[in-house]
Amino acid sequence: MTDEAFAAIDAYLIDHLGGDDGVLAATLARSSAAGLPPIAVSALQGKFLYLMATLIGARRILEIGTLGGYSALWLARGLLAGGRLDTIEIDPAHADVAAESFTAARLDKRITLHRGAALDILPTLDPGYDLVFIDADKENNTAYFDTAVRLARPGALIVVDNIVRRGEILTHPDDPKVIGTRALFDAVKDDHRVDTGALQLVGAKGWDGMLLARKL
Ligand code: SAH
Ligand code: DHB
Ligand code: MG
Repeated sequence: MTDEAFAAIDAYLIDHLGGDDGVLAATLARSSAAGLPPIAVSALQGKFLYLMATLIGARRILEIGTLGGYSALWLARGLLAGGRLDTIEIDPAHADVAAESFTAARLDKRITLHRGAALDILPTLDPGYDLVFIDADKENNTAYFDTAVRLARPGALIVVDNIVRRGEILTHPDDPKVIGTRALFDAVKDDHRVDTGALQLVGAKGWDGMLLARKL
């Protein structure tokens, strides 16, 4: 299988499953026009995150790493009525695009965009999240995961993006991003606060994966 085939299957699936509408496409177009890196979750991954939010009946969602707001919009669409999403972004240019996207999607009232470094913002948040999506600087993954567990309610779902990175998790152990994610796996191995699983993923973003954890 080639990356082209993975991407073609992604397109086929999302075409049939639906949900990747003009609002989400406009968010990606806005991000691209502003020069943001093309590293948002794929449409199919967004639909998966949305589905997880609906399955868990999420009233409060936390995202670390907003970029242009694409995954935040998928997640926010999965909130129960009256639910809220907090998302944290360090790069002012990324946050500006995200703010525009939230307004254009008419979801700005349900989303709080926190501008700053996640390690500074996280201690200011109230616990009780139903779902946490960790997708920022991989170097801090262990700290983010530890904080996510503490901010999550029992039974909550924690998802960590980019845990495979085209196999670099094994082939590039000296890459700082890989070091961050491997440190997370070492910590998770002995973390009795959570039950864990993981998905290896292929698709429009090539080969990657997500860590899934349920807070006990
Ligand atoms: N979740 C997004 C993609 C996020 S890309 C989506 O799928 O649509 C990772 C983002 O994390 C980038 O925008 C980057 O600026 C941000 N980031 C990096 N380090 C950060 C930090 N220390 N605190 C908060 N955000 C950070
Ligand atoms: C990178 C970051 C991401 O969150 C992602 O989904 C893909 C790539 C990166 O920093 O390279
Ligand atoms: Mg990611």
